[in-house]
Amino acid sequence: MLAGFSAELASSRPLETSIERILFALRGAVGGSEAAVWLYTPQGLSRGWSSGPTIATEAEVRAGLAFGATNDGAPGGLRVEKIVLGERRVGVLSVRVEGELAAEQELLVTALANLFAPELAHAERSRQLEVEVAARTAEIERGRRFTEKIIDSLPLGLYVIDREYRIQSWNRKRETGMQGVSREEAIGRPIFEILHRQPAEMLRREFDEVFSSGRMQEYQMQSVASGEARTYRITKIPMRLGDGPVTHVITIGEDITDWTQAQERFSQSEKLAAIGQLAAGVMHEINNPLATIAACAESLGYRIDDLERSGVTVAPETHDFLGIIDNEVVRCKQIVDGLLDFSRPKQPRKERVNLNEVIERTLFLLKHHVRFKRLTVETALDPLVGRVPEASTEQLVQVFMALLLNAMDAMGDRGVVRVVTRPGTDALNGAIAEVIDQGHGIARGELGKIFEPFYTTKPQGQGTGLGLSICYGIVQEHGGRIEVDSTLGQGSTFRIILPVVN
Ligand SMILES: Nc1ncnc2c1ncn2[C@@H]1O[C@H](COP(=O)(O)OP(=O)(O)OP(=O)(O)O)[C@@H](O)[C@H]1O
Ligand SMILES: [Mg+2]
Repeated sequence: MLAGFSAELASSRPLETSIERILFALRGAVGGSEAAVWLYTPQGLSRGWSSGPTIATEAEVRAGLAFGATNDGAPGGLRVEKIVLGERRVGVLSVRVEGELAAEQELLVTALANLFAPELAHAERSRQLEVEVAARTAEIERGRRFTEKIIDSLPLGLYVIDREYRIQSWNRKRETGMQGVSREEAIGRPIFEILHRQPAEMLRREFDEVFSSGRMQEYQMQSVASGEARTYRITKIPMRLGDGPVTHVITIGEDITDWTQAQERFSQSEKLAAIGQLAAGVMHEINNPLATIAACAESLGYRIDDLERSGVTVAPETHDFLGIIDNEVVRCKQIVDGLLDFSRPKQPRKERVNLNEVIERTLFLLKHHVRFKRLTVETALDPLVGRVPEASTEQLVQVFMALLLNAMDAMGDRGVVRVVTRPGTDALNGAIAEVIDQGHGIARGELGKIFEPFYTTKPQGQGTGLGLSICYGIVQEHGGRIEVDSTLGQGSTFRIILPVVN
């Protein structure tokens, strides 16, 4: 009988099946209603294999153990035999029988327990290994999730590709937005199948550069994919799994629109300040000769009048020439005044100014402008627009005057200019005014220049290029900002955003 059990254990069948078959046979040999093999684990006794319609509980097995080698009076007839390998307890064998076991049946149980010992010790080791592997796997998985959480929490788009340009990592930020692609869709695919914004060849060159040089690459790009123009800083970082060559490239995309705008604003105000200092320096140099020229022209005029009255014939153009001198002097003075606006210490502004009133006043002043009469001006002034604190009506009128004159220049003699005001979202961006024209628009490439002092596209003598840079300075001094939207051939919108009193 035992030889049959040994052969069964040594068979190529999996241990579980063999033990179950042996337990079944044991039940037959001793007339037991159930038989089971239990393993000692750090957590206690754990049932490994069993046979029979009922199964003892761990408590029953423990109680059975206390009765030692016989089942005389063992509770529920549970005969329990320790399975020991050398000094080590590896498990127990339990079998439930009615009445007493015959001596040879007792021997069979004991012998079987001995037979199981090496197998169980082995099974126990594998089980420990399994537990260990599971624990390690869980730990690795936890670590992986943790790093994934970190890269998902970054306010940046991040992805990693391998040498075959296949995506190996794709963070949350890259899943969101209009250009978003889900991680499931991206992982494992070649990057060129996922990113279409850039030509594949160009993208490949950029990656190859990092793979071969091992150096980080950084550049900026503009995108209108989200509906508005945004600037991104793209950084490609080489990554090595071992000590050898670059195995992966990490690409990070960061939206730096606000930062670049702030930078531009900063350099713009620097320029304006420099112009102001320059203007203050030359002011006297230019104003004095201008005053002299104007005075001389005026006296010349009187002299000529006197001569004419005394009968002398003066060439008729003489008066025109004097008129030209006078006009040009006035123009020069305007330019100097414009420049001085950057440097003149501003009068303290104590007023709380209502933008709607500023606009009404500007329109009233412009009403008398010849060319303005041919244009249609529509207004939509929201009475709820708040008051701008510590503002100067004069200066704000100057701003809208410059914007409306530009709109007029851009539209020629026909079209509609709309002036709109509305309350903003919070106190800092509280009052918004827009001057919307249907003029020739501004090319994207020019947008960055229009606020520069002296930048003009107008014919000589018609524009000084100071209008917008003065607007810029004034609005900034009021704690606000100017934005422009423009479409070539369709028109432009200049938006003034000012803080209001809470
Ligand atoms: N509403 C607009 N539509 C199209 N282009 C505009 C508009 N406003 C400004 N520009 C462009 O910006 C340039 C600079 O404007 P800015 O007001 O600073 O100077 P200017 O109008 O040329 O001269 P100035 O205002 O000193 O008479 C203009 O020459 C024009 O090319
Ligand atoms: Mg102008």
